[in-house]
Amino acid sequence: MIIAHRPSPNTAALADAALAACQNYDSDGDIETLCLTPFDVTAIDLLNADAVVIGTTENIGYMAGATKDMFDRCYNDWLDQTEAKPVGIYIRAGLDGTATKRALTSICLGLKWRLIAEPLVLKGNWEDRFCEDVADLCLGMAAGLDIGIF
Ligand SMILES: Cc1cc2nc3c(=O)[nH]c(=O)nc-3n(C[C@H](O)[C@H](O)[C@H](O)COP(=O)(O)O)c2cc1C
Repeated sequence: MIIAHRPSPNTAALADAALAACQNYDSDGDIETLCLTPFDVTAIDLLNADAVVIGTTENIGYMAGATKDMFDRCYNDWLDQTEAKPVGIYIRAGLDGTATKRALTSICLGLKWRLIAEPLVLKGNWEDRFCEDVADLCLGMAAGLDIGIF
C-alpha cells in the first residue's frame, strides 16, 4: 500500500511515480498495489497490507497535518497488530525535512515497523530525480516482497 499526501502537482507526481513503479514491477500480477491519501486511510487498510510506503510533505516543521491525522486516528489500532511491517518513507520538504524524518522514524519505532531504507528527504527546489528516487524505493519494496526478503 502507498499512502501519499499529494497537495501539489509535484507531490502528485511523486505519488504517481510510486504507484507506477509498483505496477510496472508487477508484470505477472502477483502484487496488488493500493494508493491512498492519508485522509482516506483507515486502520484496516494497513492491517491488510503486506507493506507500506508513506509519502508526506513537511509543513510548519512537522509532517503534514493529513499524515498526522492518519496516525492520530489509526495508531492505537495498529499498535501490537502490525509489528515488523516493512515500511518505506519519502518526505517532500521545501527546505528541511529533519523534524518530519525524526517524527516518522520515532513512530515506526513505537509501532515496531521495519524501515526498509533510510527515509528519503527530497528537499530544496524541485528536481525530476525526486520521482526516480521514489520509484527506486518502491521498486525495492516490490522486489523485496516478491522474492520474500520482507
Ligand atoms: C504552509 C506551509 C508550510 C511549510 N512548511 C515547511 C517546513 O516547515 N519545512 C519545509 O522544509 N518545507 C515546508 N513547506 C514546503 C512544503 O514542504 C512543500 O511546498 C511541499 O512539500 C510541496 O512541494 P512542492 O512545493 O514541490 O509542490 C511548507 C509549505 C507550506 C505551504
